[in-house]
Amino acid sequence: MSVPSKFSDGKITVPSLLSRKSLRPEDATKITCLTAYDYPTARLLDEAGVEVLLVGDSLGMVILGHETTLPVTVEEMLHHTRAVRKATKRALVVADMPFGSYHAEIGESVRNAVRFVKEAGAEAVKVEGGERRLELIARLMESEIPVMGHVGLTPQSLHAMGGFKVQGKTPGAAEQLVRDARAVEAAGAFAIVLEGIPRELAALITRELRIPTIGIGAGPECDGQILVLHDLIGLSFGPQPKFARQYTNLNEIISSAVREYCSDVRRGSFPSDAESYHMPEPRSSRREINIDVELTD
Ligand code: KIV
Repeated sequence: MSVPSKFSDGKITVPSLLSRKSLRPEDATKITCLTAYDYPTARLLDEAGVEVLLVGDSLGMVILGHETTLPVTVEEMLHHTRAVRKATKRALVVADMPFGSYHAEIGESVRNAVRFVKEAGAEAVKVEGGERRLELIARLMESEIPVMGHVGLTPQSLHAMGGFKVQGKTPGAAEQLVRDARAVEAAGAFAIVLEGIPRELAALITRELRIPTIGIGAGPECDGQILVLHDLIGLSFGPQPKFARQYTNLNEIISSAVREYCSDVRRGSFPSDAESYHMPEPRSSRREINIDVELTD
């Protein structure tokens, strides 16, 4: 059997991520993850060295303009996952299973997950929820589909949680979260997202588990970090959570470039002569050249 070259040139794989957890803490480097939803940004992120690209159902909010992630469909997730897959050479591509795609019958959930791998090229899927996903995660693993878990503030449980609220703040809730994280690991997940939980609890779970924890609003002790790309680049609207550090302001950069373009169009300075096509030279001068050629011949 020939081994595809992508597995021998620094490609991030599920086993390579898992092995990071067994390194001594002083040798371990944090795992870098970001969301990606389309070809150009996925390509930039991959080339910049981001190790895990999550096609998050957050695309419902940051790309499609919904107020929550709940309306996102499997077809929409497949569409965006395909674009990210095409752009990505090194990072591990993980597709989020949207709300409703793994909440009914297990066979149907497995079939939906298979579509992400088979039709869109995902290398793993992510599902939200802890103990109650034990059987599902185990079945996905049996079907050779690596699973990333996600506990804490799980946006698909928005209504059950009563809003986007930090989770695990009482002793009882913290204990439940530890049980959830252990269940996700026991079921066979290769990593787990810890979202919107106290730093101390995330640190405890990170020490407890043998699989990497990926934090978002869960403090610096997690084995890796993830952010929604559009928060990081300043391309989202409305109030941002306090953990979402903004590294640049694309809202401003894009608005200013577009205002400049509109002004150039209005005053006629775009396009310039150099940006225009021209008619070919008149035929008569070409004929002269031909005659010269015939003469010298
Ligand atoms: O959908 C998403 O972007 C996510 C991350 C925030 C973890 O689930």
